[in-house]
Order: sequence, then structure tokens, then C-alpha cells
Amino acid sequence: MAAIDYSEKIPNNVNLASDRTLQRALEHWQPNYLKWWSEMGPDGSTDFDVYLRTAVSVDPSGWAHFDHVKMPDYRWGIFLTPTDADRAIHFGEHLGEPAWQDVPGEHRANLRRIIVTQGDTEPASVEQQRHLGLTCPSQYDLRNLFQVNVEEGRHLWAMVYLLHRYFGRDGREEAEALLERRSGDANNPRILGAFNEKTPDWLSFFMFTYFTDRDGKFQLCALAESGFDPLARTTKFMLTEEAHHMFVGESGVSRIIQRTCDAMHELATDDVAKLRAAGVIDLPTIQRYLNFHFSVTIDLFGADQSSNAATFYSAGLKGRFEEGKRADDHRLHGQTYKVLEIADGRLGEREVPMLNALNEVLRDDYIKDSIGGVNRWNKVIEKAGIPFRLAVPHKAFNRKIGTLANARVSPDGRVVSEAEWNAHVRDWLPTAEDRAFVASLMGRVVAPGKFANWIAPPLAGINKQPVDFAYVRFN
Ligand SMILES: [Fe+2]
Ligand SMILES: [Fe+2]
Repeated sequence: MAAIDYSEKIPNNVNLASDRTLQRALEHWQPNYLKWWSEMGPDGSTDFDVYLRTAVSVDPSGWAHFDHVKMPDYRWGIFLTPTDADRAIHFGEHLGEPAWQDVPGEHRANLRRIIVTQGDTEPASVEQQRHLGLTCPSQYDLRNLFQVNVEEGRHLWAMVYLLHRYFGRDGREEAEALLERRSGDANNPRILGAFNEKTPDWLSFFMFTYFTDRDGKFQLCALAESGFDPLARTTKFMLTEEAHHMFVGESGVSRIIQRTCDAMHELATDDVAKLRAAGVIDLPTIQRYLNFHFSVTIDLFGADQSSNAATFYSAGLKGRFEEGKRADDHRLHGQTYKVLEIADGRLGEREVPMLNALNEVLRDDYIKDSIGGVNRWNKVIEKAGIPFRLAVPHKAFNRKIGTLANARVSPDGRVVSEAEWNAHVRDWLPTAEDRAFVASLMGRVVAPGKFANWIAPPLAGINKQPVDFAYVRFN
């Protein structure tokens, strides 16, 4: 089961060859995917040989093979973790029943919607990141960008497989539409807000892979609990790839901070203008980027109260993060959860039925997880002896979805007037000047072992290769 068949046009471990109709449908979709990749994938990269990892099995140990490959030749495929024949649904109203190997008719529309929404984020991020290769700070970073891009492409394959295999004609139509929407397109945008934002520079890219790919982790973890077994098995394998994306983000931001702290020492200053003149990104600018990416990303979890979230859970379609480790009854009737609200001009909490608040439950789990890396970034600053600390902004800051949408709340969690917001927003969110400054640093550095001035080299290379390894061969 775990072996992947690479003799097939579409590598897979689902015995695709035994289902001719499905195989033909996917082979029909494949050229459209490659056309999308050539139009919307990494700009000007077609001929590069990139040191990429490719999945060769779904065993937790040793699933990856590393080699130089041209990205259009990457073996995108369909890999599911093995079936557990005894698996039972472990939450919601079907608790204890055998997991579904097919889509129950009554949940068809909701499952399709869940899969399409997840699937849509995958090509969206490739589109958002397509110009970044032109301004890479090193070959090492360029390779990491491309690794993330090809794996997001594979995640699209993962969702398209489910659509084709289990949703008939509707599924095929949805699979085509996934190649037609475009990030940021006014007429045919991607489904979720954060995936229509620009990722114009590498600070944004690292913040995106730290914060927004982590949203991916939490959504995938919730879907890995699903009673629809093929979805659970697909998302489980996607999670192994997601871990690297978050590593790219965390280590990228960490290296930027390291370089900035080094420059602060060399110049014995914390003066923003002097640091910018020295070509490094000042810590307050990093904080503003963090505020932006964090707040935009937590909106992705949806409204704090949602009857859809309750339906998805009760129906057994989407669980909580680490559902199996929780000690409650996994049905949640009569339980409550605290959500934020603004009453009499102040932020307060209100108890609401937990089933309706499951978006908020997942968002809070996400927030806890994202604070971990921010603390590790602060260790870098602390080690440098600099009295500055980064922090995630308050959950109510800069929200666009749910009860808190468009409320004026400062990063430290005070409800502020429109006037105070306007007076301080430049300190809280990246300004046009910040973005222009960061953009001005973005030049292309591709000599092996060389790094742009604004970022420190990594501590180690990829797959135990040296840092100055030829990660990308330009032909
Ligand atoms: Fe993904
Ligand atoms: Fe990702």
C-alpha cells in the first residue's frame, strides 16, 4: 500500500490503473494543470534544475527522495496514508460508526464545499508567490520557495483526486474551476481573502509560510479527523509536507532578525533610519508585517459563531485539532465556549454553544501554536541583548470576519476610536513606505553560498548538503 507507482503517468498509491475511467479523467485534467503551472507557476523557472524532494512512499520515515529536477517534470501524484480497516468515526452524531469509504449522499454538498475550499488555497499560494524567484536572497532560499510551490501543486492534486474519484461530474467541474480562479483577480478571485493578498517580497513570503501555511496545518489536522476516510488519509500525508513550509517561514524570519540584530550591534544603534540605510529590516517593521499576516490569517478560520461549523462537526465531516486526544464526549451538546464581543465600547467575553463556536476553538488552538515560533524569534533578539520583543497582536486586531469585523482594536487589545486608530495605524500595520523599503532590498542573489545583506545564512543546508551547495542549476 505504501509504495508509490512511478511507472504511471500519474504517480500514485491508490492503484489508479485499476480504475480506467478515473485514470482517464485525471489524465485529461493533467495537461490543464501543466498549462496552469506554465502560466501561473514560478516565473521564468522552467529550465532550472532544482534540488527537490519527491515523495517515494508514505512511510513516516524515509518518504522523501532528493534530486535535481526541472519543476515541470516534478512527479505530482496522489498519495494517501494506508487504510485502517477498523477505523471508526470518533466525533459527532455518527460517533462509533465505521468511517465512510464513500460519500454519504446527505453530506455530499458539504464535503464537496470543504474539499473545494481547501483545494483552492493550494494553487492560490503558488500564484501569490510566482514572482519571488526573481528577487531571491540566495540559492538556498530559492530552492525552498520552489519546494513549497511544487508541494502546493501536489496538494491541489490531492484535492482534485477526491473530487474526481468521489463527486462525479460536479467534482470534475470543480476541478476545472480550481485551475480557472486566480489570486487577486477581481472577476474570478480565489475563495478566501488571505489568498487574494499579494506576497510581494520575501519578508511577506516568510511571514506567509509561518502564519498562513500554519492555518493550512490546522485545517488539514481538522480534516484528518474526518469520518470520510479518503479525505482523512489524503490530508494526513499532506501534513508531512506542510511541516517544511512552516520551517521555511520560521527559519526565514529568524534569519532576518539575526541579521538585523547583528547590524544593530555593529552600528551600536536602534535608529530605524540608520538601520535602513545599512540595508537591514528594522524590528518595528518586522512587527508590523507580523501584525498584518497574523490578523489576516486568523480570519481564515471563519466567523466566531457559525452554524456551518456546527453542521460539519456534528455530521462527522471536520473534527477539532487533535480530536482523539480530547477527553470530552466528542458530541459537545450543552457545552459552551467563550467568544469575544464588544459591548458598551469594551471588549468582553460571551459564552455561546460550543458547537457553534468551533471555528473559534480551532482559531484559539492555532494562536497557541503560532506563539511558539514568535517566542523562538524573541530568543534571537534576547541573545543579542536587545530590549525589544515581538508579539502577536490581540485576536480582535484588524479583523475582517465575524463579530469583530471592522472593530477598531489596538494590537494590545484596547477598543480605540476611529481617530486613535487613524493616528496609530502606521505604527501597527505595514505602511506604503515600509513596503517600498522592503521592496528596495529585494535583489537577486544566486551565487552559491552568497546571501543578500538583509538575511543571515541558515545554520545548515537541505538534506545535509552544505549551505553553499548548488541547490538550483540555472540552464
Ligand atoms: Fe498546501
Ligand atoms: Fe503549505
